[in-house]
Amino acid sequence: MQHAHPQTAASRLPVRSPRKSSPLPAWAWCLGVVSCSLVLAACSAQDNGNAASQQPPEAASGQLSRPDYQRAMYDPIHFKPAIETATDEQCLACHKEVLEPSVRAQSIAGVQPAQVKAWYQDLSTYTGEQETFHRRHLVTPYAKQVMDLKCNTCHQGNDPREEAPGSSATTVADDLRLRKHVDVGAVCLMCHAKMNFEVMGLPEPWQKSKALFNNDCLMCHAAIRTNRHQVNFLKPEAIEAAAQGNGDVCFGCHGGRAWYQMLFPYPRHPWPGGEEVPDWAKDRPTTSLPRFLTGLPAQTAAAAETAPSAPTETTPADSAADTGAQQ
Ligand code: HEC
Ligand code: HEC
Ligand code: HEC
Ligand code: HEC
Ligand code: HEC
Repeated sequence: MQHAHPQTAASRLPVRSPRKSSPLPAWAWCLGVVSCSLVLAACSAQDNGNAASQQPPEAASGQLSRPDYQRAMYDPIHFKPAIETATDEQCLACHKEVLEPSVRAQSIAGVQPAQVKAWYQDLSTYTGEQETFHRRHLVTPYAKQVMDLKCNTCHQGNDPREEAPGSSATTVADDLRLRKHVDVGAVCLMCHAKMNFEVMGLPEPWQKSKALFNNDCLMCHAAIRTNRHQVNFLKPEAIEAAAQGNGDVCFGCHGGRAWYQMLFPYPRHPWPGGEEVPDWAKDRPTTSLPRFLTGLPAQTAAAAETAPSAPTETTPADSAADTGAQQ
């Protein structure tokens, strides 16, 4: 994952203070955000000219109406607690470019995006032309169908100066992943981990055993771990509907795009018939992270309350394991 270091981006750009009566619009510093896609041959190729036709942003965080580049970079909206309640619109006022189609017509080596498919772009859910990372998660049809990710589902605030935890007295010690804008272990891993086929009692990894099950996870999961996906960044009903007879939907987020060769310790919500807690699940949390529950319709909370009582073997240590395991 490549991204422009703030210093580099700043020095490369003809950044000018918007307070001077320069012809450069006040928001032009936003273009300093060089977005490089995570996808092969998908680097941002949009230039300032394109963005220049857009409307200037509103006062972004409501605190500074025309911040200069440095102030904007340290706008409190980037950090906790403000980032927790930030809306996508607020972020996009300055970062509109992350959602703009910006895959190059061809890579620097001359390869055209339509001619290449990555190993993970082989599930039936993958459609359309090559897209940038942000668009694949936020605006492509499939993303919108099954997910409801927001900027702050992934972005939880980071320190633009240090980018490394605990390296000075003032740097943020916790919740900061080394040189990452997003805590990959807590966020990406949920949808890009290996499939835990062993605990499912499958003889082999899904790639090999799926024929046995007609490529249908619901042969088991119509009855097992049925209390799932009740979080504010997924569309649970749409997922179940799309997954009827198509295991690629489920597998896509549970092993089919496993960038990380490790497991994610999913919360294990109680479900009818799932009263027994196997040894491997003793330390699992029994609810999703609180931040993923905000904004959910009340019925979900009510459903959770009336769900069969949580297995009694769980101990308070589970909540500690929750944070611990997900870091
Ligand atoms: C007032 C304008 C403004 C707003 C609002 C804003 N940003 Fe930024 N942001 C910037 C500027 C300027 C930079 C520095 C860009 C650079 O150096 O490339 C930046 C940098 C970033 C970076 C890279 C940080 C780094 O360490 O290099 C991320 C990620 C980011 N913003 C996300 C967000 C998110 C998410 C939101 C909404 C919660 C948001 N921004 C709201 C102006 C803004
Ligand atoms: C699926 C998780 C996810 C979502 C949702 C997301 N981002 Fe990002 N964003 C990332 C990752 C990962 C990076 C690259 C981080 C790095 O290099 O460490 C990134 C990078 C950025 C950057 C730095 C410049 C760049 O393009 O590399 C900005 C600015 C940014 N995101 C803004 C936003 C805004 C605004 C939104 C909401 C519209 C958003 N992001 C939604 C994961 C996400
Ligand atoms: C809520 C689930 C979810 C989360 C969280 C998530 N992703 Fe994804 N990701 C997806 C889905 C679904 C797709 C495939 C979409 C498609 O096929 O159209 C995808 C696709 C991708 C792709 C391939 C893009 C392409 O065009 O081929 C990359 C790379 C990726 N994710 C990286 C990440 C990273 C890094 C993070 C964490 C910052 C992350 N994802 C977080 C669900 C998620
Ligand atoms: C043979 C039946 C069976 C099939 C087929 C099956 N699963 Fe499972 N799955 C299980 C069982 C059993 C568990 C563990 C139940 C428990 O928590 O006690 C499980 C657990 C899970 C978990 C939670 C793992 C964890 O670490 O908490 C996920 C996610 C999951 N399955 C996804 C899938 C997906 C996606 C597919 C299809 C690609 C699939 N399963 C196919 C039986 C199955
Ligand atoms: C767009 C990505 C995505 C898709 C598609 C998806 N899942 Fe999930 N799944 C997740 C995420 C993220 C979580 C963890 C949510 C949380 O924190 O509670 C999860 C959690 C689970 C769990 C753990 C349930 C528990 O006890 O909380 C099971 C089992 C599971 N998924 C099975 C499936 C099956 C079966 C399908 C297909 C019908 C499927 N998933 C499709 C992203 C996805």
